[in-house]
Amino acid sequence: MTQQTTIRQQFDQHANAYGRNPLTHWIGGSELAAIERLIPPAAELGITRALDFGCGTGRLTAVLLDLGYHVTGYDLSPEMVAKAAAQLGNHPHRPRLTLTTDSRAIQGKWPLITALGILDYYADPLPLWQEWQQLLAADGRLVVTSPNARSPLVWLYTLASRFTCPAQGHTVEDLRKTAVAANLALTDIHPVFPHHAQLGHTLVMGLQHAAH
Ligand SMILES: C[S@@+](CC[C@H](N)C(=O)[O-])C[C@H]1O[C@@H](n2cnc3c(N)ncnc32)[C@H](O)[C@@H]1O
Repeated sequence: MTQQTTIRQQFDQHANAYGRNPLTHWIGGSELAAIERLIPPAAELGITRALDFGCGTGRLTAVLLDLGYHVTGYDLSPEMVAKAAAQLGNHPHRPRLTLTTDSRAIQGKWPLITALGILDYYADPLPLWQEWQQLLAADGRLVVTSPNARSPLVWLYTLASRFTCPAQGHTVEDLRKTAVAANLALTDIHPVFPHHAQLGHTLVMGLQHAAH
């Protein structure tokens, strides 16, 4: 069984309960505030399309719609996508949203890619950095989060995740090194929850093509 098949099955299994944990909900709010600072409204950037890679139940997808983007939410897990479709069903900008589990539907170049809470499930970030680099337009922006391996909060998160979808953190050094290996430049990095390099649970990162 491939790693992605395992991850898909785990998220399919836990989709119903996803988002109900008050601690992760609280951490998520703090992440979104930092992420939104890296994503200007579509009209300000002069671009319209955004890919929410690993959109899950649509937490950031809704924000991107509110910012004026035509959003494609892509995820491995049909159950997570079904939950996103239900949660975003009455969103006023629903006509600007496409949801898919088909990786062929996202081939091409995207001016904005977001990938929140994905690196958590991969011990080696390099293949994902390479995939996102391939999907990113020449002057595109990539916004990614990772649990911070140095944060004691992430040690607890790693332990608790054993009961659902096993996750782990990455160090800033490893993320930077593997991003460079994928020809990406890490232009912004903000630890959040709290805003502290060692203690911050989540690293919110902005990237571009290295040659940009
Ligand atoms: C922790 S959830 C995060 C969801 C959403 N991005 C958010 O921040 O609320 C991780 C999601 O990533 C999806 N995922 C993991 N690896 C993926 C991959 N290689 N391609 C697409 N989706 C992936 C999982 O199925 C799951 O729905």
